[in-house]
Amino acid sequence: MPNKARILDGNLESEIDDCVNALRAGSVIGIPTETVYGLAAIASNSSAVRAIYAIKERPSSHPLILHIAETSMLDDWATNISSEARALCKQFWPGPLTLILHKSDKVLSEVTGGRDTVAIRCPNHSVTTKLLKKLNNAIVAPSANKFGKVSPTTAQHVVNDLGSEISIILDGGDCSIGLESTIIDCTTTPPQLLRTGAITSEEILRECNITVVAASGESRAPGMLEKHYAPMCRVVLVGSSQAGLVEAQRYVADGFKVRLLDLTEDLDKFARLLYSSLRTADKDEINVVIVVRAPMSGIGFAINERLEKAANSFL
Ligand code: TXA
Ligand code: MG
Repeated sequence: MPNKARILDGNLESEIDDCVNALRAGSVIGIPTETVYGLAAIASNSSAVRAIYAIKERPSSHPLILHIAETSMLDDWATNISSEARALCKQFWPGPLTLILHKSDKVLSEVTGGRDTVAIRCPNHSVTTKLLKKLNNAIVAPSANKFGKVSPTTAQHVVNDLGSEISIILDGGDCSIGLESTIIDCTTTPPQLLRTGAITSEEILRECNITVVAASGESRAPGMLEKHYAPMCRVVLVGSSQAGLVEAQRYVADGFKVRLLDLTEDLDKFARLLYSSLRTADKDEINVVIVVRAPMSGIGFAINERLEKAANSFL
């Protein structure tokens, strides 16, 4: 379907005004963040929030992340905030960290899927911060892709996926991190890691002296599915480039169109390019992408988590 979205880079004040007006009128727009592009609606309009679920084709039981301009807005949207949560905001916001907190009365039930907790983050992207400040409200924003598919890390990805269904896409350039935010549940003691991301438990311990444990019990982040981040092509994981070559030969012999991806030399670059590499493989009609797993350190945990889910999607 043809693109109908206006692509704005937000350099002009009037463009930010257009986005603010669209959000206030209940429209859903594409916005950049440092992690991935988001599909944004104003947090105080339930029909706008519901429109996100419809456009994404996402089950309404999967709650959304509320995005705020600065830490000072936190107390509008959350209550009984623990000292650990305060310390995490102070250290890591604005940045790729989402906290699960007890929601305030102001949070709509459409945002949380009826839960009494809410996910909140303060993104680190100048254009989106400008937009949030001018809006003087919060937005909710899941990744701007169809449910279960690969998240977008460029404005063009959003055009490709949703350009026929939304009115504006704010182009803030390529996402500098490229993987979704780390999610920490701060309503439990000790806090639990619900989704890996650029900020790791090790970094949290080092910087804030807070111990974060693995999520336990029933899946606490609805949407943490075994299959996710799925391209069309099959993703096969290997431990080394050498092993990748052997696998590649096997698939080529079976008549498949194969690509080998080894970005293990530079993990930040691996994270930044992972989703666009999978999207390019689909565009090039590759059948099998063989990816060398990241070493388990820093953002390597998050890269491998996404890769495992992408690989599972084909099973
Ligand atoms: O980096 C990001 O976080 C991006 C950008 C756009 O900010 N957003 C993003 O949103 O990844 P989304 O909707 O794709 O992922 C939201 C995750 C889901 O896995 C959901 O289950 C979890 O947050 N979540 C939201 N509210 C929650 C709650 N109250 N309790 C537990 N998990 C929650
Ligand atoms: Mg997503």
